This record gives sequence, C-alpha cells and structure tokens, in this order.
Amino acid sequence: MKALILSGGHGTRLRPITHSQQKQLIPVANKPILFYTIEDVIEAGVKDIGIIVGPNKEQVINAVRSVEWDANIEFIYQAAPKGLAHAILVAEGFLGDDKFVMYLGDNIVRGGIVQHARKFMDMEPESLVLLTRVDDPQRFGVAELDGEGRIVRLVEKPDVPPSDLALAGIYFFKPVIMEACKNIEPSWRDELEITDAIQWLIDNGYRVEASSVDSWWKDTGKSEDILEANRLILDDIEPKNEGLLKDSRIYGRAVIGSGSAIERSTIKGPCIIGCNCVISNSYIGPYTSINDDCTVEGTEIEDSVILAGCCISNAGRILESLIGKNVRIEKNCFKPTGTRFVVGDNSEVLL
Ligand code: DAU
Repeated sequence: MKALILSGGHGTRLRPITHSQQKQLIPVANKPILFYTIEDVIEAGVKDIGIIVGPNKEQVINAVRSVEWDANIEFIYQAAPKGLAHAILVAEGFLGDDKFVMYLGDNIVRGGIVQHARKFMDMEPESLVLLTRVDDPQRFGVAELDGEGRIVRLVEKPDVPPSDLALAGIYFFKPVIMEACKNIEPSWRDELEITDAIQWLIDNGYRVEASSVDSWWKDTGKSEDILEANRLILDDIEPKNEGLLKDSRIYGRAVIGSGSAIERSTIKGPCIIGCNCVISNSYIGPYTSINDDCTVEGTEIEDSVILAGCCISNAGRILESLIGKNVRIEKNCFKPTGTRFVVGDNSEVLL
C-alpha cells in the first residue's frame, strides 16, 4: 500500500501564522503536524509516500528532507487547491495501480492508523473511511448510515447534518477511486470533493466500509484546534531533561531540550521547552510548548504554543495563545504609557 499525504492549500483560517508558514508545518508539542502523519503511515508499513505540495512547496520539501525517514518520499505539485479528489488526480502517476491511504496533512489521530489499515486489508472494500462523532458536523464531511451501520450517503459541510458522524481526514482506497474522481463535478466551493467521489463509489455498487476512531482525532483547521491538539499530545508526553536547571523547580512531566537553561523559574507539566532556550524568573505552566531558540523572562505562560525564536520579556501572564516565529513581546517601559503594537494582517489580540 502507498500513502498520499496532502500538504497543499492556503490555510486561510490560520492567518496570520499561515502568511509565512504552510499550515501543516505548524508545530504541535514542538513537532510539525505533517510529521505525525508521515510517522503514522510509516508505522502502518507504507514504504512509498507521495506528498502533495502547493505554492509554498519549498518550505514543505525542506522541512520533510531535514529528517531521515524510513520510506521513499516523493513530492507532487498541485498548482492550486482544487479539492481532495483533484489531489488524487494530480497524483495519478505516483499512485499507479496500487491501493493507498490518503491522509490530510493537518489531521492528527491518537494511536495512529495501524488498526484501520489492517481492517482495510482484511475486508478488502473499495474504500474504508474513518468516522468520528463531533459536536459541529457542519464543519466536516458527514456520513449517513443505514440500520446495519453501512454508509448510504456522504455530504460535505451540510447545513442540516444527517448525523454527527464526521469523516476524519484519513481514507483508504483501491485504484477504482481514480475513475470516481474523473466522474464527478466541482462542488459549490468549486472543489472536486472526496465525499462526492466516495458517494460515486457507493452509487455505482462498490463497497465502502467505515472504521470508527475510538480515541481522539483533530483537524487543526483553526487556532483553537492547534491549542487543543497540543493539549492532547502533551497529555501523553514522556519527561526528559537535557537542559540546565538553576534555582528552578519542575513539577509533573516536562521535556527540556539540549542547550536550554532554566533559571529561577517554575515549570509545571505537561509541557515542552525546545533546544537553546533561556527561561528566567518565569512560570511555564501546563499544556505549553515553547519551540527552539526562545527567551522568556519575567513572564508566566500557560496553555500556549510559542514558535521558534520568540523573545518574551516581563509580559505578565500569557494564556491560550498561539504565537508565530521570531515574535517579540515585552513590557512597554517608555512614556507615554500604553500598549504598543506592530501586528500583522488578520491577527487577534485580547487585552
Ligand atoms: O478534516 C476532515 C475534513 O477534511 C473532512 O471531514 C471533509 O470531508 C474534507 O473535505 C476535508 O475538509 P476541509 O474543508 O477541512 O479540507 P481542507 O480544505 O482544510 O483541506 C484538508 C487538507 O488538505 C489541508 O491540509 C490542505 C490540503 N489540501 C486541500 C485541498 C482542498 C490540498 O493539499 N489540496 C487541496 O486541493
């Protein structure tokens, strides 16, 4: 079985972070979301991975190539995000006549995909999709099941959802899906929808099975989702300290990277601090991820994701925040007093 991982698209709902950074590369617990998907397909035994890349392709290619993976990885260019079924058409040459798992590069599922891959191989349907109950089905593809639990209909982002069973962004296919993708029309949002292609399989008598996600699954489409995924991943983190501690205390499970110095501070896990950071006179609380090369001084941070290279000084108490790369936040010590901002387009500030 091959894997097709989708890492194209614009990530508009995550602006301003995605102005400069491809959304699948946003780190959760200091690791790009895309890397969790690559690890999951490798764990399921896949040796050939195609990654769909869009206009920011260099970023994705460089990030993926910075790590040694136990699989062959090929990058497939999709010039515009014309839909998940369109991505399959673009990958026709790579996919050939093989079965494959399609995994959306902004999705994270606890426990990986091994059990679902096994089910697909054992049952041999034309497609196997992952379903999970959600509170807001309008945001997703939604499945309607018959009395025996078989999928009868799939609808993309319905105003009136037929159920609360969302399609998670992990799909297993036999090659006939290519024919389905060639036989559907663009939707109201002008995309070739994967839900329509799977519906084509059902309407043409092919077998589509469902597998339910029993642990958590997250589509990291919005900033709240990134914070939630960060909490969920940190809940399972194993403690490891490769940094230097001076006059500081650690409670709970914390990971501290090499070259980092923690001085006169309190760290309360679960949390992760990357490499080459300096944390002084500060409190780093539960569910915080601080990436490499950050300096935090005289500040309390809790339940937040801070990307690499940030400098945060005497900034009070920061909560439930997603802060991009190389951001500087510091107390205004100059007159006149007040709050000074240099904030990018579509930013959000809560005072
Ligand atoms: O997350 C699960 C949901 O994903 C499903 O429930 C929906 O049925 C499915 O359509 C999809 O909905 P989204 O609207 O969330 O998809 P989004 O446009 O965010 O794209 C998902 C990922 O695929 C994202 O990482 C970007 C990438 N992508 C997207 C498109 C449309 C591509 O690489 N190429 C594309 O053409």
